[in-house]
Amino acid sequence: MGQFPAGSRMNQESLWHFDGDSGTQIRKLTPKRPQSDKAGLADIFPYYAGFSFEWAKGQLRLEGFDENAVVLDPWNGSGTTTLAARVNDLKSVGVDLNPIANIVAYLRLQDADHMEPCAAPTARSARASQHEPLLAWFSSRTAGRFRQWSRSLSKQPHSTSSLGYVALFRVTRSLTKGFEGSNPTWVRRASNSEDVVDVASRDLDDLIVQEQRHVKDRVSEESHPGCPASIIRASSACLPMAEESVDFILSSPPYLTRIDYAVAYSRELAILGVDISKDRSLRSSLMGTTLIRRRRDVIRQEGYGPKASQLVENISKHDSKASSGYYLKQAKQYLDDLTLSFDELTRVSKRHALMTLVVQDSYYKEVPIRLAEICVEEAERRGWSFIDWDQAEVTRLLTQVNTAARAYPKGKVAETVVTLRRKRS
Ligand SMILES: C[S@@+](CC[C@H](N)C(=O)[O-])C[C@H]1O[C@@H](n2cnc3c(N)ncnc32)[C@H](O)[C@@H]1O
Repeated sequence: MGQFPAGSRMNQESLWHFDGDSGTQIRKLTPKRPQSDKAGLADIFPYYAGFSFEWAKGQLRLEGFDENAVVLDPWNGSGTTTLAARVNDLKSVGVDLNPIANIVAYLRLQDADHMEPCAAPTARSARASQHEPLLAWFSSRTAGRFRQWSRSLSKQPHSTSSLGYVALFRVTRSLTKGFEGSNPTWVRRASNSEDVVDVASRDLDDLIVQEQRHVKDRVSEESHPGCPASIIRASSACLPMAEESVDFILSSPPYLTRIDYAVAYSRELAILGVDISKDRSLRSSLMGTTLIRRRRDVIRQEGYGPKASQLVENISKHDSKASSGYYLKQAKQYLDDLTLSFDELTRVSKRHALMTLVVQDSYYKEVPIRLAEICVEEAERRGWSFIDWDQAEVTRLLTQVNTAARAYPKGKVAETVVTLRRKRS
């Protein structure tokens, strides 16, 4: 596991707390989300999560924020933080660049009474246009029918369309299971016309109507009236928020693990009409992307702190192929995004605001990437004080699914929860 910056404490005691009712020491909730977790509607769509709903709720209760407090998750994903804030009666803002994440996050906040499952669109005979992105997995009639559904949902009020889209995502996932490999973030495309999934329009309609009902039932089981939450599509490096408006940041940043999450959600993006094989804008804008942006898009001029600079140097000196080329560029691009995001997080935070981040370390070849330490250092450089941390060992690494990556010796990898406070001056 990584060392932590001087002055920090290996906070073992804080991993346990005394339960007055049972009279025993019990392990505090960890951020890790149980695989079959349903709490907070985690089951309605399998979006990769930084932490569990129960843990997020607990974090928001620790400080005893007042009723005007604003919580921000700048990498909100499917909205664990925004829902946990709602349950705790706190206002919140959830920012994410991935429109799929935003739709799920928005749906999790809705009142089931205000959403109506949509009936099947009336036009039945549907053939997809030749540019239809869903043709990567579906026959022309099935892709065309999905497109009719998607168009008709886009005209509905937001709560109804989010229900419909999540139903479309669920049906798409279940029909295309066979295209998923051992690496959950890699999705194969159909190799020939025999390989595509073909479902008659009427059967597809039944599946979608059924899924809308199921999701609506789940939302009504867990409806949480409470404070307003905004779900915003934006970059963490350019937040559409006022200065000093946030009391608590609770988040989990994208990691430097070379996992392409736009590819992981390529089928759902295709439902929205986005073809990531042709339109590279979403892929290249995400933090941690494996695409290298054009040079003139790189805007960061100043250097990073010593830990991030050391990482850049370690990668550039590695003797494997492309370490001083492509991989160096990719790491710098990630660190540019991360540090620009820390500028923004600092700008929008009130003096004395708190920030709790769940951060996973990783490896480049055998070079450790101590991302938690880098985040703490970059926050400290911007006027935050480090106040606490907890660590847990990560047992299954997505990057280890890649057999080439397994060739290099690696130590244990930690998932760290770090908490910082913005200084008053
Ligand atoms: C680790 S996930 C967060 C998971 C979330 N905390 C949850 O528990 O559901 C990171 C998220 O960051 C988003 N993301 C990547 N780059 C971004 C950027 N520049 N600005 C905002 N969001 C970004 C990804 O789309 C992804 O949803």
